[in-house]
Amino acid sequence: MQFQRSDFPEDFLFGVATSSYQIEGHGFGGAGRTHWDDFAATPGNVVRAEHGARACDHYHRYEEDLDLVQAAGFDCYRFSTSWARVMPDGKTPNQEGLDFYDRLTDAMLERGIKPCATLYHWELPSPLADLGGWRNGDIAKWFGDYTETIMGRVGDRMYSVAPINEPWCVAWLSHFLGHHAPGLRDIRAATRAMHHVLLAHGTAIQTMRGLGMSNLGGVFNLEWASPADDSPEAAEKAALYDSIYNRWFLGGVFNGEYPANVLAGVEQHMPQGWQDDFATITAPVDWCGLNYYTRKLIKPDNTPWPSLDEAEGPLPKTFMDWEIYPDGLYKFLKRTKEDYTGDLPLFVTENGMAAPDKLTNGACEDPDRIAFLSAHAAQIQKAIAQGVPVGGYYMWSLLDNYEWALGYEKRFGLVHVDFETLERTPKSSYHALKGALRALT
Ligand code: FCB
Repeated sequence: MQFQRSDFPEDFLFGVATSSYQIEGHGFGGAGRTHWDDFAATPGNVVRAEHGARACDHYHRYEEDLDLVQAAGFDCYRFSTSWARVMPDGKTPNQEGLDFYDRLTDAMLERGIKPCATLYHWELPSPLADLGGWRNGDIAKWFGDYTETIMGRVGDRMYSVAPINEPWCVAWLSHFLGHHAPGLRDIRAATRAMHHVLLAHGTAIQTMRGLGMSNLGGVFNLEWASPADDSPEAAEKAALYDSIYNRWFLGGVFNGEYPANVLAGVEQHMPQGWQDDFATITAPVDWCGLNYYTRKLIKPDNTPWPSLDEAEGPLPKTFMDWEIYPDGLYKFLKRTKEDYTGDLPLFVTENGMAAPDKLTNGACEDPDRIAFLSAHAAQIQKAIAQGVPVGGYYMWSLLDNYEWALGYEKRFGLVHVDFETLERTPKSSYHALKGALRALT
């Protein structure tokens, strides 16, 4: 690694992230069916129709996995609790599920790891999907009840909590582009999901305040949008892409408003009385998390609104075909402070890359990942040097895992997982991080 702990402020936190459906093994412990199980069971949605029934079997191997988090020297473990494990039908608690997160929490604390929870990383219980899922405004209340149930059990031991991972993915990617569950391609559904996901976020924040909890935040995935050429049309479309992807969600939570260029296309689809919901959506948070991976080059096309197309970028790409653009992380840290969060601490809650990593003689060399993480760490340092209050850097991901519609072949882990034997093998990036994070003496 080209950085070490001592290059960052003394209280800067290093962490590693995962999510429940991607690693736990959803077939275990009485978890209920989710819309991801339904999506994966529908031909054509997921590579080889792969699903999360076994995944990394973290449900049974969590102690070994937390040993890896501890041994690398990470301060924090960002994990998620599964709604469908805690409430298989979306509404009724499952003791086995609650017991699991209780054990997991204590196992982190025993190892001196700070538990950083996310309450929703995409596994909506199918019975709630049957009721319209994120299209139904009642989801805010259902989510509030779930928040109360899970945090009523483990909230006393959380270091930090964010309600929802990546609202853009929950709403636009899943209801407009149709790439993630529930796989809809419907502008009205997408619009409602874009609003309800923020209403659910605010409701969960208020619920946790009611439980006396603190250090609550929001986690947003941001993608830098650049015009594909010098034309005013490309500039306008890049701005629209930026508004749909980034500004809608940050603007809703931190400024209590949605961007005019998006409302122009979707206002007719908004639920009645939507403006009144900002009182809940803007419930004060203590920090803001940014998940950052790449940028896109945007140009117009002649399809109906939003009439967006993407151009191939010139930069080196990861195994996801995502351009490697570390500058975007610096730009987002700076812009988020300036336009939305002011003095609030920012955290990079996800950043990492997929590679076609292979085991050779029991070892896994991933120099590209080491370079990727080093380059992004340098951008965080640059932002800090310019007065942006960045409090931590969490890498995606601890383990190779279920990469959603792309199944198990896109490996993001610092630790290699053999999906036949489930054996874990730390990659060279893991060893390099371990060297970089060694406690200061
Ligand atoms: C993020 C998701 C995470 C993982 C990474 C690669 O958008 O939060 O679950 O899929 O991308």
